[in-house]
Amino acid sequence: MVTAGPTHEYIDPVRFITNKSSGKQGYEIAKSLSKRGFETTLISGPTNLKVDEDINLVKVETAEEMLKATQRNLPADIAVFTAAVADFKINKISNTKIKKKENLNIKLEKNIDILHYVSSHNSMRPKLVIGFAAETDNFDENAVSKLNNKNCDWIIANDVSKENIGFESDFNEVTIYYKDANNKKEKLSYKKKSELSEEIVDRIEDKIN
Ligand code: PMT
Repeated sequence: MVTAGPTHEYIDPVRFITNKSSGKQGYEIAKSLSKRGFETTLISGPTNLKVDEDINLVKVETAEEMLKATQRNLPADIAVFTAAVADFKINKISNTKIKKKENLNIKLEKNIDILHYVSSHNSMRPKLVIGFAAETDNFDENAVSKLNNKNCDWIIANDVSKENIGFESDFNEVTIYYKDANNKKEKLSYKKKSELSEEIVDRIEDKIN
């Protein structure tokens, strides 16, 4: 199971909060898994990307829908969370389009952490749970803290402050932190997201075989 893309958190019927995720990294990982013979479900926020029919594509829009789709697709042997899920949702969505005014205060509340929900599941935790970390600063420290706090086996961190990698780009450069090897880290150098995904899936295969 792979999650990918952004989520939309609605303010009113025509406006929402989102982020820059294109879904490219997650779609490439799903394609690499499927190519190697893994039965692959891709749970995707709104993107313009396409995949072959051998991937079970589940389209969602909000974080809540992504959580429900993830729950419906458990159990899974391997779960890779590349989605840029909005950390917050609007506390009370307006049923009608909000009228123009001088100031608008929007109250946000925390969205459930889908990765943490799955990695802490008592009976259906996948054998391998891999999170991504989108960082702009304190790279090592934040990645290791996500590895531990989100209870995952690996965290794959990328620097989203750089324009040539991370969000939207066809390229990426990542560091994998392995909890199962005492937080040992491994850098995968700058390359196409498709090639990087092959390298990530090589490591997944090594781990589970
Ligand atoms: O989609 P692209 O344009 O190709 O860009 C790829 C990417 C930059 C989005 C991707 O490489 C990446 O970094 N994905 C993770 C983005 C993110 O939201 O990171 P985070 O550090 O905020 O979250 C950490 C982890 O928790 C992620 O695995 C995320 O999917 C998960 N999470 C976060 C919040 C939440 N409510 N539920 C979650 O499951």
